[in-house]
Amino acid sequence: MKILSIETSCDETAVSLIEATGDFPSAEYKVLGNALFSQIDIHREYGGVFPAVAKREHAKTLVPMLQKALKEAEELKSNQVKTFTVPDTLEVMLDREPELFEQLSVFVKENDKPDIDQIAVTAGPGLEPTLWVGVNFAKALALIWNVPVVPVNHMEGHVLSSVFDGTNLAELQFPALALLISGGHTELIKMNEWSRYEKIGATRDDAVGEAFDKVARLLGLQYPGGPEISRRASEARASNLPMFAKLPRPMLDSNDLDFSFSGLKTAVRYAVQDKELSEDEVKAISRDFEDAVTEVLLKKTERAVSEYNIQSLILGGGVSANKHLRDSFTDFFKREYPELSLYLPDPKLSTDNSIMIALAGHARSQDAVTPADEAFSLIRASGNRSLSDEGVS
Ligand code: KG4
Ligand code: ZN
Repeated sequence: MKILSIETSCDETAVSLIEATGDFPSAEYKVLGNALFSQIDIHREYGGVFPAVAKREHAKTLVPMLQKALKEAEELKSNQVKTFTVPDTLEVMLDREPELFEQLSVFVKENDKPDIDQIAVTAGPGLEPTLWVGVNFAKALALIWNVPVVPVNHMEGHVLSSVFDGTNLAELQFPALALLISGGHTELIKMNEWSRYEKIGATRDDAVGEAFDKVARLLGLQYPGGPEISRRASEARASNLPMFAKLPRPMLDSNDLDFSFSGLKTAVRYAVQDKELSEDEVKAISRDFEDAVTEVLLKKTERAVSEYNIQSLILGGGVSANKHLRDSFTDFFKREYPELSLYLPDPKLSTDNSIMIALAGHARSQDAVTPADEAFSLIRASGNRSLSDEGVS
């Protein structure tokens, strides 16, 4: 089965075409085409993602990304004979995105229908205005080409991309645990089987990625903060810089699996306020912050691993690109839990992408809805869609 996948939940506009041979989860996957445009340079000026700006950029970039992915897959076949008409409903569907409507109208008139069986699209969680652009785009394509759409959960995509080696999904041993850490999420998710998720811990305030981004801002570093802090932290370790601030480890010893990061961010604020920081001081506090975050994540994850007799541990989400975190988890669990299988995403697949959305689409193929189905009009974007609510396919 060939899946066209679309991701617009935050600041990456991504489209892929993937071929799955066999059934989920033992299928063999082939990435036929993959196109991603990161809006980071645009948002950097504002110091963070502005939903209205992100939405406009997605609307502008989706058709070019679709073209790029299809071209890479050699699925872009120009057709002089006009076979596809633009249904009247399309203009209504895309009435808030006139530029997308224009581009799409030209595209479908000039190109043949690609050989695809299904369109997978991120329906949440994420920024609701940007999710809607992707969802409406997916529905418009489905309507024009008469193919089913499957709405997927972005976080399920992160879980699956972490156990994806480029061809296959790992043979997970259950119970498995996923530590999902991104700009919007910090959660511990238990899986007793594929496609079924139970949230057993979460942040009570800021997500880890959000804390990285906010602390970076306090230190005068660019958005997104994670990579900026990570680079300086490793320089501080390499030159053994002295500790700049003793930072708290919020909820380290609390008798649960929850997290809190806003106090840590506030502690950094107090430590740096009214100070002219030298470059070395910025490096030192980056390391102190990264150490505090890593210690809390590691300890809470270990607690869950031992409490639930976890066999496979999965790290997912943008923050799992962090080298210090990856090394610390690898060292610790190899040493203390040698029987446990640890899965870290390929750094290229840690942050948002559409390959992970195709994998989630394949996992949820049974939920695909054709334009003729009544349920088609009910496919919606939802900013706070939760993994625990996903049904079992
Ligand atoms: O998963 P993702 O791409 O988007 C969301 O779904 O939120 O995660 C983005 C987050 C940002 O907060 C970014 O600062 C963080 O991941 N991030 C990192 C690193 N690379 C990205 N945080 C720490 N270290 C990194 N190397
Ligand atoms: Zn994400």
